[in-house]
Amino acid sequence: MLRLALVTLAASIALPATAQQPNRALILECMACHGDDGIAKDKDVPHLAGQNFGYLVKQMKDFQSGRRPHKEMRVMSRHMNETELEEIADYYSSLPRDPR
Ligand code: HEC
Repeated sequence: MLRLALVTLAASIALPATAQQPNRALILECMACHGDDGIAKDKDVPHLAGQNFGYLVKQMKDFQSGRRPHKEMRVMSRHMNETELEEIADYYSSLPRDPR
């Protein structure tokens, strides 16, 4: 229920004005570490594909606030506003866990 509300909210705020995929540039940055399809190549980087929406949002907020300490992710999460964060969580949670 909450998830649905958040997705609807994100979609309604996100779309107006600019591009179709406003987070494309941001997601390209994420891909460098988390993989093209959300499946990370490096064993120290977690997969994001198919991860729970609410979990992803919470982790990114925790990186932002420093509650979950991590140097790279703190820097990355600072680039994201609330809407972008939810769009990104929506995107990664929609990807298949195992693309093969
Ligand atoms: C420089 C490499 C790098 C980049 C770029 C990067 N990440 Fe990460 N990310 C990591 C690492 C490493 C971790 C694991 C952190 C830890 O060990 O606590 C992580 C963790 C995460 C987590 C938590 C996953 C989990 O299972 O708990 C999320 C969500 C996340 N990243 C999202 C993103 C998003 C969204 C972007 C793009 C805006 C991004 N990351 C860009 C390296 C990166």
